[in-house]
Amino acid sequence: MRAQCLEMSIPNGSTYRIYLSRGLLDGVGEKTASLVAGRKALIVSDANVAPHYLERVCGSFARGGFEVAHEVVAAGEASKCLENASRLWDACARCGLGRDGVVVALGGGVVGDLAGFVAATWLRGVACVQVPTTLLAMVDSSIGGKTALDIDAGKNLVGAFAQPVLVACDFETLATLPEAEWANGFAEIAKSAVIEGGGFYEWLAAHAEGLRGRDYTVVQGAVARSLVFKGRVVAADEREGGVRECLNYGHTFAHALEAAAGLGTVSHGRAVAEGMRFAARLGTEAAGVTESFVAQQAALLDALGLRALDAAWPADELFARMAFDKKARGGMLRFVFATAPGIWQTMTVDADLVKIHLILWEQGVG
Ligand SMILES: NC(=O)c1ccc[n+]([C@@H]2O[C@H](COP(=O)([O-])OP(=O)(O)OC[C@H]3O[C@@H](n4cnc5c(N)ncnc54)[C@H](O)[C@@H]3O)[C@@H](O)[C@H]2O)c1
Repeated sequence: MRAQCLEMSIPNGSTYRIYLSRGLLDGVGEKTASLVAGRKALIVSDANVAPHYLERVCGSFARGGFEVAHEVVAAGEASKCLENASRLWDACARCGLGRDGVVVALGGGVVGDLAGFVAATWLRGVACVQVPTTLLAMVDSSIGGKTALDIDAGKNLVGAFAQPVLVACDFETLATLPEAEWANGFAEIAKSAVIEGGGFYEWLAAHAEGLRGRDYTVVQGAVARSLVFKGRVVAADEREGGVRECLNYGHTFAHALEAAAGLGTVSHGRAVAEGMRFAARLGTEAAGVTESFVAQQAALLDALGLRALDAAWPADELFARMAFDKKARGGMLRFVFATAPGIWQTMTVDADLVKIHLILWEQGVG
């Protein structure tokens, strides 16, 4: 595997590097030292990740000349909360982290969103370095600048846009990633390939087995292609006013399913894959999607081990959840449809048609 460095440029002027390699944990501190003026760093991790990697990252920042503090939060979505943000702000205060300091997120998307939010809000914004340790965080949450907390009213409702100053994807960290977490990354990679089309889609169709089998050269290829894709989308539309909506492909259904099934019952990746299948089938009536594309996409998802779900949840409950989703406008439901790899559109769909397809899905014939 060769080391790669991608450059992310946002029209607002921010530019940052995304490093892809093995062994990056030991050099991330030195790399950061050339990007920030201050020498105080707060490293945030979670209880599953910290025992494996925190010491190495702390050592790397110490070698970079930083005075290092660290905080470890509980693993899991519940940690993306105001209480933890408050605890981390207190930690910033204790270690005297000034405007020129840096907050480092070492973990999956939960730590990335939490630490990113704290960096975006401490002293109205300090530098953030993302060190993603899940495949999902590598391909999705560590870049793009969205940070978020969950509150009782819903997931990701409080947040800020703030781009990191550096992202370091160290593939060595994936060695300890639990089996079930890989599917979440696979689904986002499949979504990106379907929306991007062209070379990415063909490459993934040809390398799906290698990715599923954890061939690290293929894993790096998939991460790099996903990042280039997401980088281009975010550069065109940082704040989701237009083209960034394409990243929601499969997600309207997925969010409803995850909520209806109960947190953790259906993984995000399986839910997104099911959402892509649902959007394709709904699209045959709503958006001119062909049966051949429905089958083509299903074959890709199958090859990645993202099989169709064999349990259904009540159509009326899913519909009610979708109607509450932020993408529902004026009694119509808004979906992203792909009609072929690389060709997508957003459309509002009549609620009755969505209900019919949810009933078909529930009956297992959709
Ligand atoms: N900001 C964005 O643009 C964006 C995009 C997508 C998702 N997200 C957010 O990301 C979160 C999901 O991210 P995730 O799937 O990475 O979940 P996560 O951070 O909860 O990580 C999943 C699990 O794997 C463990 N883990 C992580 N890396 C590990 C490693 N290398 N070895 C051993 N265990 C490890 C974690 O402790 C956790 O138990 C959600 O909160 C979602 O809202 C944000």
